[in-house]
Amino acid sequence: MASQATSAATSTTASTAGDARGETRRGGVADHEPHVPLLFTSLPPIIDGLATPTSTIQDATVKEVLPYLGGAAGRLDYNDLGVPRLMREKHAAFLRKNLGALPAPYIGADASRPWILYWCLAGLALLGEDVSSYRPGLVETARTMQNRSGGFGGGHGQTSHLATTYAVVLALAVVGGEEAYEVIDRRAMWKWLCSLKQPGGGFQMAFGGEVDVRGAYCASVVISLLRLPLELSPDSPAWTPEGTTTLFTNLAEYVQLCQTFEGGISGQPNAEAHGAYAFCALGCLSILDAPHRSILRYLDVPRLVSWLSSRQYAPEGGFSGRTNKLVDGCYSHWVGGCWPLIEACLNGPEGGGAAALPAAKQSLYSREGLIRYIMCCCQDESKRGGLRDKPGKPSDAYHTCYVLSGLSSAQHRWTLDLEDPQTQVPGGLLKWNVSPCTEGEQVFGEGDRVLPVHPIYVIPQGKVDAITEYFGKKSGF
Ligand code: FPP
Ligand code: ZN
Repeated sequence: MASQATSAATSTTASTAGDARGETRRGGVADHEPHVPLLFTSLPPIIDGLATPTSTIQDATVKEVLPYLGGAAGRLDYNDLGVPRLMREKHAAFLRKNLGALPAPYIGADASRPWILYWCLAGLALLGEDVSSYRPGLVETARTMQNRSGGFGGGHGQTSHLATTYAVVLALAVVGGEEAYEVIDRRAMWKWLCSLKQPGGGFQMAFGGEVDVRGAYCASVVISLLRLPLELSPDSPAWTPEGTTTLFTNLAEYVQLCQTFEGGISGQPNAEAHGAYAFCALGCLSILDAPHRSILRYLDVPRLVSWLSSRQYAPEGGFSGRTNKLVDGCYSHWVGGCWPLIEACLNGPEGGGAAALPAAKQSLYSREGLIRYIMCCCQDESKRGGLRDKPGKPSDAYHTCYVLSGLSSAQHRWTLDLEDPQTQVPGGLLKWNVSPCTEGEQVFGEGDRVLPVHPIYVIPQGKVDAITEYFGKKSGF
């Protein structure tokens, strides 16, 4: 499979269609073909002769996406560079619908209601929609999901879980405002997080539950957004009589154990590397300390960069989540979202960091490839709207949120403000700067730019600033 799924990360593209990118055409109708680089329109140059179930579905995927990438999928409006418009209104309508009453088949997703709220609200916010009208409803719903013993479950009467807690906290941050922030019982949250903290450094996902890298990320997001004290409660399993251990003690060391022989990150030590866990690991390390210190210190960065680069396929342009698996729109975020953190790691004050790695002066992946995959293959062009894994799959709130996040990170460049005093202290609240990415040719129109998504918290940057500022002003709980 590796030979078929050629990495697009090192490709150079040479579109020459001038300033025609604002114009649109309907696939197959105009009298000239859109200008799409060969890399995205042709089969991989090396095909492995041994057919396996894996190679067969990979070949079928390439066959399915090629017409979309080549500007010949009849229902999309392509510009002259072969990139369709972002169907903002359709996607926003899809997300609004998912915030309403859901049909009976969703009963199995009852415990995921916090996630659906987060995906829809974050997606709408990235599309530039004002979501404040959802605040009163979310406040009431979130109250029913919170447990007196701390944290949020999937619904009323459900056990608190780090994943649902992460989702509720982010959803509240997205609607913003004091009424939303004050739903959270921060003292109970702190006590509950202390009960999940393990002597080995990691966090259980729920009391008595599994310890994994999602726990490391979700806990560090909640702790940092709510500005919780790091001190451990004496009844925490990780508490020591010397009083030196904190909620963050040995957390980076736990994450380090999850890097695999491939260079990627697995959910738990000695398991299979996956893009979703890579993002969790990098997000957690970037909260514990600035990426140019923490990521460099705890991870083998060249091997990680090599594994991440292998996640981008050609001709598809999108990312897979793991070796020998298929491209999928949601990895536009889980893998695509790793790049700003890797770039910040390599672009530290020493220009490449203490490990003498080269600085990332240019992008380490093909932004154009990812944008093409998202715009051409991930948009549900029917009345339904929303974004999806790949053509032939139905859109859903999860893919809509993470495809839009991936689009945002491909459209922007993030840099750490290295002069900011907070960036210089270990564990300080990092100051990030963001600007439109101007590298290479811009294949999408300005109207199709989405809001900058924060590289760690996966919600718009302004929402992160507002909630951290609010809780930063509190002394104690
Ligand atoms: C495999 O799915 C998926 C995983 C092994 C990891 C899923 C984890 C997340 C999506 C992230 C969780 C993060 C938080 C913050 C709680 P698959 O076998 O269906 O997909 P694949 O074929 O693409 O690997
Ligand atoms: Zn997916």
